[in-house]
Amino acid sequence: MSNPAPHPRPPAKAHEHAAKRDWPAYYDAVEGKPARDTLLKALELFERDGPADASHLAIDLGCGTGRDALELLRRGWSVFATDSSQEAFDRLLPRIPPDHNPRFRHTVDPFERLDLPPARLINASYALPFCDPDAFEALWRKIVAAIPKNGRFAGQLFGERDDWAAIPDRSHHTRSEVDRLFADFTFDSLQEVENREAGATGEIKNWHIFHIVARKRA
Ligand SMILES: C[S@@+](CC[C@H](N)C(=O)[O-])C[C@H]1O[C@@H](n2cnc3c(N)ncnc32)[C@H](O)[C@@H]1O
Repeated sequence: MSNPAPHPRPPAKAHEHAAKRDWPAYYDAVEGKPARDTLLKALELFERDGPADASHLAIDLGCGTGRDALELLRRGWSVFATDSSQEAFDRLLPRIPPDHNPRFRHTVDPFERLDLPPARLINASYALPFCDPDAFEALWRKIVAAIPKNGRFAGQLFGERDDWAAIPDRSHHTRSEVDRLFADFTFDSLQEVENREAGATGEIKNWHIFHIVARKRA
């Protein structure tokens, strides 16, 4: 009797690649995904004051292959996208419609070395937890300084009960630390979510995430 064919191993999920900072595999796993809800919420709030034009600058920190940056361009914003991965831009740049190109610029730089111009919106989707913890406070000061009054931050911070908090090079925050970081802001939306997700082979990942949209007060 012949042996049954082995079951093919299911492909790893996006978060399993992110756990190992395997960004090319992560980019493959999230290919074609839409803009993040936190960005969409921030855009909806800004659009109550009218549509964006090229004078509206958004910085997209840790932009990856551009699911958020492309949406910002589509909605009329100018975008300064940053990521430490050249491959992110090798994939993103060909996807920018030629007529949006004049509103886009980028830098291949790590968070730990960034200079940030003033920007009405700083967007950081699932990116800041990958900043070196020793550099996080300096980066955060630059983020707060770059956002003018009535500008916004949109994105995620990860909490201390997230499994990745045990990885030494990650930046995670408690709820009270989140409140301190946003002392100059009013939360438009703050959702603290804890859940569990099975990886491709069933291994459980505990998530603890703050989904944040916040407006600067002063
Ligand atoms: C989980 S992905 C998120 C990508 C995209 N923002 C999204 O929502 O899908 C994290 C991104 O942060 C970038 N990244 C990781 N560490 C970084 C660092 N120290 N400085 C700058 N970018 C970094 C990675 O290259 C990757 O593109």
